[in-house]
Amino acid sequence: ETLDATGQFVLPGAIDVHVHFREPGYTHKEDWETGTAAAAMGGTTTVFEMPNTHPPTRSVVELRQKQEAAKKAYVDFGLYGLLAEDNIDELQGLIDGGVNAFKCFMGNTFGNLPSPSTGAMLEGFEIVARSGLRISLHAETASIMAWRQKRLVEAGRNDPLAHIAARPAVVAAEAVARAAILAEWTGARVHVLHISSALELGPLRDAKARGVDITGGTCPCYLLLDSSDYARLGSVIRVNPPVRDAADSEAIWAALKDGTVDLIETDHAPHTLEEKTKSVIWEADCGFPGVETQMPLMLNQVSKGRMSLEDYVRYSAEAPAKRFGLFPVKGRIAAGAHADIAVVDMARSETIRAAGLQSRGKVTPFEGETVTGIPIHTLVRGRFVQRDRTLVTGAKGHGRQVTDIQKMPTPVLHNQDQTLASVLRGPG
Ligand code: DOR
Ligand code: ZN
Ligand code: ZN
Repeated sequence: ETLDATGQFVLPGAIDVHVHFREPGYTHKEDWETGTAAAAMGGTTTVFEMPNTHPPTRSVVELRQKQEAAKKAYVDFGLYGLLAEDNIDELQGLIDGGVNAFKCFMGNTFGNLPSPSTGAMLEGFEIVARSGLRISLHAETASIMAWRQKRLVEAGRNDPLAHIAARPAVVAAEAVARAAILAEWTGARVHVLHISSALELGPLRDAKARGVDITGGTCPCYLLLDSSDYARLGSVIRVNPPVRDAADSEAIWAALKDGTVDLIETDHAPHTLEEKTKSVIWEADCGFPGVETQMPLMLNQVSKGRMSLEDYVRYSAEAPAKRFGLFPVKGRIAAGAHADIAVVDMARSETIRAAGLQSRGKVTPFEGETVTGIPIHTLVRGRFVQRDRTLVTGAKGHGRQVTDIQKMPTPVLHNQDQTLASVLRGPG
């Protein structure tokens, strides 16, 4: 079978290290079929799926449940295990059971998983450090947010901007700094998810300069929206962490260019239109679908001259592949080795319509935007999963869990003989 790609660009498929596919537990929002269909339509060939399902992916029992649900996948996937207050004794089982990375919710968000104390985080980091797997952080400090939201609700504030006031940038930056010092002490590899502010960049830069294996990601909404969009979008824009000021998005663009922010992820967080549009802002669910619109939105920025196609490939495929240990990292474009490909037509335009998304979350802050630069075919390990802007329904179930996570050398711990595990084991 041949493919005529005259005049088109053959890119490595995007690797999205941050999606919520909701199954098991919240399948009215999304499931593995609709979520990975959205990825296929969006030129994304590998996703890493988050553990805030119901039940959460907190031990090997739930990991097996998720692997079962994921048998419907169109694209390849990694699975996150939870790192929380109440499952520290399950972490080794998750590692041995084949989890691909960990997720630590330092602040509460959808699913209301209690955020771990710093003590539990430290022990969790000690354990995961030995596996070499990366820990992705929802870096927002729960105690600060709880206080501020209580004060705002008591004062009767109920407007989209109150959402930012409850979770100002310092909430995120304080969490980044705290996690970075735990990573430095334990040798754990960490990734700061959804960087939304200029203030987080300082502690991230400092930790990198100290040699901490820390990476950062941001999402299209933090690059392309700002506080001037709140009035227009109302509760639809509500996301954790919040979209902030234009100066923040400018700083994040610059941080992508200088390598402080390593990659683009989507935080694909589908909710129904009804769950998103509430008259009381605190009742609207946070987040929106993103895996299907990421590549068109960012290629549109390439079309506008905001970044080069090479830079885009670095943020969307090369950096996530390298940082999350995917595939033997040989060439510049590691993912290409597996023929995980998005063929893009940089001359084609489409108008984003929530109603036309594969995702069950039929709501997007980018409704009605016309973008130029579209993935017209998607191949996963050499097989079409999207062809000519049509989902290849026969490819349902083609997706596999990535198993060839690069085995990283065991990092050197600063406190090798002081880990809780080694002290509890006793002398000798
Ligand atoms: O807005 C968000 N929604 N932020 C998160 O961190 C979680 C996500 C969700 O699962 O809905
Ligand atoms: Zn998050
Ligand atoms: Zn998320």
